[in-house]
Amino acid sequence: MKLLRFEHFDEMAARAVALLSRHLQPATPLPTAVMLSGGATPLPIYRLAAERNIRASPSVHVLFSDERMVPARSPESNYGNARPFLEALGLADERILRVNPRRPLEAAARGYDEALAGFLRAGGRITLGLLGLGEDGHTASLFSAADVERGRGRRAIAVERRKKPDRVSVTPDLLAEAEKIVFLVAGAAKRDVVRRLVRDPASLPAGLAVAGCRNVELWVA
Ligand code: 6PG
Repeated sequence: MKLLRFEHFDEMAARAVALLSRHLQPATPLPTAVMLSGGATPLPIYRLAAERNIRASPSVHVLFSDERMVPARSPESNYGNARPFLEALGLADERILRVNPRRPLEAAARGYDEALAGFLRAGGRITLGLLGLGEDGHTASLFSAADVERGRGRRAIAVERRKKPDRVSVTPDLLAEAEKIVFLVAGAAKRDVVRRLVRDPASLPAGLAVAGCRNVELWVA
């Protein structure tokens, strides 16, 4: 896992916007996708990218690392929080692969799993996947080794949470399809978990989740 340290968040944000711009406007006419991370860290990056008038190429799709089972208008909705960015990209709804939070949890997970599997089966490539990192070492909505294991053979799974809302998460098998994974991590509170992820990735759900990925970078501000 390659570690890139940034002195300031703005430097990481500018680099992430340039990376998103390249992957949202690829040279190929073939179907490709960018996976957006949930959580708060990437939101200033999505806002900055939206201001840059980047228009997604007609062959580009967007998917999400995970979703909370809340309405899109909820401040907890990863899709809802990214919607201004998606609108700025000019992305038609049919090119946004997302969880339907109005369905029951298991049905929503199955629907997302089928959508992701269908995109890949049709020859779609995930050229970039962004991930966040929780202080507890989770990523997407994979909070434990058990969550990681449950995902084997699937592209998305339901994750019931004691502390609601429940979630739907991509799986390690989906992450392994991404040609490049970039963790975007910021803040002093993440210092210890970053150190653990670098030194002993198998000790964290995030490290287990990306163990099968061919190209992983950890960007830290
Ligand atoms: C989610 C995210 C989750 C997030 C981390 C970090 O939906 O919660 O996908 O994996 O990336 O919890 O969150 P912050 O960026 O808010 O610290």
